[in-house]
Amino acid sequence: MSNVDEQISHTYSFQDRGPVYIFTNENIAGYLNTIGDLRGKNILSVAASGDQAFHAYLAGAKHVDTFDINSFQNNIVELKLHMIKYLPYDKFMTFFFDQNNFFNCKIIEPISDKFSKKLSEFIQYYLKDGIKMIRYRAATAEDFRIRDKVPYLYSPDKYYKLRDCLPEKIDFKRCDISEIPKKFNMQYDVILLSNIFEYLYMGYNLLSTEQRIVQFYRDTLSKIADKNLTHESGKIVFNYMWNTTPDAWNSFMDYFNKKNLIPISSTIERKFYARAVDAISKPNSGWDVALIMSQKQK
Ligand SMILES: C[S@@+](CC[C@H](N)C(=O)[O-])C[C@H]1O[C@@H](n2cnc3c(N)ncnc32)[C@H](O)[C@@H]1O
Repeated sequence: MSNVDEQISHTYSFQDRGPVYIFTNENIAGYLNTIGDLRGKNILSVAASGDQAFHAYLAGAKHVDTFDINSFQNNIVELKLHMIKYLPYDKFMTFFFDQNNFFNCKIIEPISDKFSKKLSEFIQYYLKDGIKMIRYRAATAEDFRIRDKVPYLYSPDKYYKLRDCLPEKIDFKRCDISEIPKKFNMQYDVILLSNIFEYLYMGYNLLSTEQRIVQFYRDTLSKIADKNLTHESGKIVFNYMWNTTPDAWNSFMDYFNKKNLIPISSTIERKFYARAVDAISKPNSGWDVALIMSQKQK
C-alpha cells in the first residue's frame, strides 16, 4: 500500500463535511455515450468529485446543476474546475497523481485569488486534518484505471476541450437525494444519481435487490421523475455496479418492465434498462453496468 492509501478515509457512510471523493470510480464516459446526444441538454447530477458534471459538459450539455449530501464535495468540484480552467494539464496531474506533490498548495497558489471563501476554508481544513479528508484513493490506485478511462485525465486534448466547455461556476445545493424535488424546481433531460441507491438500504439486509429497487422507485425515483425529469423524454441513471453481468441485469430490468412492478401514471411511460460499460477496474475484467430509467409521454 502506498502512503496515500494508508491514510485516506475508508468510511462507507456519507454526511455533510465528511471525507471527499476527488475522482470518480465509474466509467462515466462509457454510460453517457449510451444515453444519446447530450448536446444542448440540461442535466442534474450528484456533485461527488465533479467528474459526472465535467463529463456531461464535455459531451455538450448546456447546463449542469449539482447536489450532494456532503457540502465539501462542492469544494472539490470548485477546486478542480478552477484548475482545469486556469492551470495546465501537467500541473493538474502533478497535484493529484504525483505522490510527492499530492495536494501541494504551491501548485494552486497562483490561482488562489479565484477561490471562494468556502474553498479557501476547505483547504485550511485539509491542511489541518490532512489526507483523512480524502475518501477515495483514486490518486494512486492501481486497481482502478481512471487514468485510462477518464478522458480528460488520459488526454491533454480532452482536458483543454473540457476547459472550453466548462462554465466559470457550477451551481450546487446541499441536500439528500430524497430532497431533490423540494430543492430543485427545474425539469432536466438527464439526471445522474451515481450509486447513491446502494447506500440507502444498507440496514435492510432482508430486502432483495428487486424489493430495494421497488422501494427506491416508490420513495425517491418516482418523485424525482414526476417533478424534475422532463416528461417528453428524460433519463435517470440511477445506479452503477462494478464487475457484474450485463445479461443478468438486462433480464432483470426486462422483468421489471413486464411485471408492471412499478405503479405509473396513465399518461407517462417509464422503462428500466441496463447498459454495459467497459469495467473501470483492472484490465480485462469484464463489464460494469449502469441502471437507467427513461420516461416519455404516452
Ligand atoms: C455514492 S458516492 C460514490 C462515488 C461515485 N461512484 C463516483 O464515481 O463519484 C457519490 C456521492 O454521493 C453522495 N451521497 C451519498 N449519499 C447521498 C444521499 N443520500 N443524498 C445525496 N448525496 C449522497 C456522496 O457524498 C458522494 O459525494
